[in-house]
Amino acid sequence: MSTNQLDKKSEAWSALFSEPMSELVKRYTASVFFDKRLWQADITGSLAHAEMLAAQGIIGAADLASIQQGMAQITSEIEAGSFEWKLDLEDVHLNIEARLTQLVGDAGKRLHTGRSRNDQVATDVRLWLRSEIDLIIPLLGELQVALVEVAEKNVEVIMPGFTHLQVAQPVSFAHHLLAYVEMFSRDAERMVDVRRRTNRLPLGSAALAGTTYPLDRERVARKLGMVDERGEPQVCQNSLDGVSDRDFAIEFTAAASLCMVHISRFSEELILWMSQNFGFVKIADRFTTGSSIMPQKKNPDVPELARGKTGRVVGHLMGLITLMKGQPLAYNKDNQEDKEPLFDTVDTLKDTLRIFVEMVGGQPNPATGAKEGGITVNAVAMEEAAKKGYATATDLADYLVKKGLPFRDAHETVAHAVKAAVTHNCDLSELPLSVLQGFNASIDKDVYECLSLRGSLNARNTLGGTAPAQVRAQIARHRARLG
Ligand code: ARG
Repeated sequence: MSTNQLDKKSEAWSALFSEPMSELVKRYTASVFFDKRLWQADITGSLAHAEMLAAQGIIGAADLASIQQGMAQITSEIEAGSFEWKLDLEDVHLNIEARLTQLVGDAGKRLHTGRSRNDQVATDVRLWLRSEIDLIIPLLGELQVALVEVAEKNVEVIMPGFTHLQVAQPVSFAHHLLAYVEMFSRDAERMVDVRRRTNRLPLGSAALAGTTYPLDRERVARKLGMVDERGEPQVCQNSLDGVSDRDFAIEFTAAASLCMVHISRFSEELILWMSQNFGFVKIADRFTTGSSIMPQKKNPDVPELARGKTGRVVGHLMGLITLMKGQPLAYNKDNQEDKEPLFDTVDTLKDTLRIFVEMVGGQPNPATGAKEGGITVNAVAMEEAAKKGYATATDLADYLVKKGLPFRDAHETVAHAVKAAVTHNCDLSELPLSVLQGFNASIDKDVYECLSLRGSLNARNTLGGTAPAQVRAQIARHRARLG
């Protein structure tokens, strides 16, 4: 086929085709307008393949030099925005290869020796996703640092802890924030794990069965950094599997979904805490919007959108996993549909993490270097709220147990005390000693220490508990871990 014929994909296959594609079918089957995003990975993969072909004596050194020079030219054209992407050439791979052949002639046509678009695209998606995971992991670190910084300033701030959204027991606000640090640290671990399985080389699987050329797949893997912690090359060991499975993309989207679910839970709490009924925290105005009709409003748009976008990412997970279901081995065109959900998952997650890093922790003031504009905390409102729901009732039960009562009896005794407090419209700590002693004679005036919010907090001094000493130890552990 002549170089010019490669401009038309319908003519790029072979003489076998007797009629051209309709415009509708062309548009339906093309992916170039979204998969051109893979161009860098595509060129990197092609260069590694070409270098190996030359090293194995499958193509000549002059061909390799031409391919390298042509790819350098294509790189600058794409970066400058002057590269002409053609729908007729279907996808990023055919577009780049056609331009290469236009630029360097036969050497360009030799690049595809021992390769298929099937192993090419699987390699490109893996390379691209790996580089995105390498951006996401540090963002998860930054978000954890931002939360730890806010926690550090609020170890002694007491808020009501909830179960069933009913006031349960007092907790340190820092302790509450550190719960999210745990979640995001597991999200980061999951990303590291997904990266390991993403970072394996399909190239060399060719269309599905492997290739007749003496390829050195491990050399390509090393060149592309597809190696494990010990530097051993990571190569997909079965050609059928290498070209066809997208489980790494599904796993990534599952990890991203979990991370978004954590962000969504945090968002829900921010939205509640910012409402007039709670008044626990404020976020900077630039993350909120007003109302077109109600002048008093400041709506928490960013947390609300993050909660909403979580549905979108979980939807992508459903899309990808359903895409895989029912595909016979090996490659099927269905897999072209992996890209848009994957791209959108990456974009949504990265943007959400970036915005949360700033919304939680603020931005450094250029003059002082100190961070400003993060979450602000209304400690008084939190403490007032903690006083409302008999949050220290469990402490009274524990007090009675220490006096010798079985826990179930203590539980029942305290229920009577709470009922009395409800009747008198006061807190447990406001019931006179004589009234408390009416419920159990062993109650003494030291009970008031355990009925106070601070006493309750301090008493939970076991690993993972909310006592300030424990919370400070956790902050130190996170600080050391996060560097
Ligand atoms: N654009 C295709 C994709 O994204 C490339 C692979 C096409 N392979 C094929 N045999 N049609 O999956």
